Amino acid sequence: MTRHGVAAVVVLACLAAACRPVKPGDPVRGLSKAERDRFARGKVVFDSVFTPETGLGPLFNSVACGECHEGPVAGGSGDEVEVHAAAFKGGVCDPLIEEGGPVVQQNATPALKQALGIDKEPVPPSATAQAGRSSPVVFGRGLLDAIPDAAMTAATVALFAHGRTRLRGIGSWRVKETDRIAAMATELHKLGATVETGPDWLALEGPVALRAAEIDTYDDHRIAMCFALAAAGGVSVEIRDPGCVSKTFPTFFQVLASVSAT
Ligand code: HEC
Repeated sequence: MTRHGVAAVVVLACLAAACRPVKPGDPVRGLSKAERDRFARGKVVFDSVFTPETGLGPLFNSVACGECHEGPVAGGSGDEVEVHAAAFKGGVCDPLIEEGGPVVQQNATPALKQALGIDKEPVPPSATAQAGRSSPVVFGRGLLDAIPDAAMTAATVALFAHGRTRLRGIGSWRVKETDRIAAMATELHKLGATVETGPDWLALEGPVALRAAEIDTYDDHRIAMCFALAAAGGVSVEIRDPGCVSKTFPTFFQVLASVSAT
C-alpha cells in the first residue's frame, strides 16, 4: 500500500471511531482531557464496593452505587427501592433533614448495631408520610451543567415535547445577572406552562396549550432568543426589549424571519 493509502486508511478508521454511537455509561464525545480524567475518577468510585473500612455507613442502603443504578449497565436504573419519609405541614413538604430524612437507610454496620442495638435507621419521629423511590438512571449527569446557555433553549423546546421534561444541573442559572430559573419559570408560565422549580432544576409537562404572551427579557439576550422560538407554536409571542440581542447576535430576528415559513 502506498503511504497515501495508509494515511487514508488511518483517517477513515478515525472517522469510523468518531461516528460510533456513544454507549450508555460511556463519556460523551468532545470532552477535554481534564474532563475525561474526572469522568474516569468518578467511574472508579461508582464501580467501587464500600466496606466500613473504606467509608461505608454507619447507616446505609447498599454497598455500591452500581447495586442500585445498574441496568443495562452501571449508571442505569435498578429495582432497589429506597424508603423516603417527610412531614407535610401547612401545605409544604419538610424533608426532615435535622431528623435524618428524607432517606431512611435500611442497613447499619456491625459496629453501629453493637453500639446502638439498631439494624436500620429509625423513621424520623415527625414524619407524616413514607414512600418508596425506585432507582433512576443517572446517565447524562453533568451534561446540562456544561451547556447552561443552550439548556435555556431546551426549556422553551420543552413546551412542545410530549411528556415531562426536567432540566437539572442548571444551578448556575441562579447566579447570573438575574435568577434565571425564576425568570424562565415566570415567562414559560405566561405562555401557559405549569412549571415546577427546585434549587438546580426546572420541569414542565408538554405539550403546552400555548397562549399569546409578552415576554420580559431581563436584559438577557438568551431569554429574548429562546422565547422567540415559542412563536413556532402559532401564537403571538411579543419579546419586550428585543434590542438586547445586539450583545451577541444583532441580526437574530432577521435571521429568524428568513428561516420562518410565514
Ligand atoms: C440503595 C439504592 C441506591 C444506591 C446504593 C445509590 N443510589 Fe442514587 N438514587 C437512588 C434512588 C432511589 C434515587 C432517587 C431519589 C429520589 O427520587 O429522590 C437516586 C438518585 C440518584 C441521583 C439523582 C438522579 C436524578 O434524576 O435526579 C444521582 C445523581 C445518584 N442517585 C447517584 C448515586 C451515586 C453516585 C451513588 C453511589 C455513591 C448512588 N446514587 C447510590 C438509589 C440509590
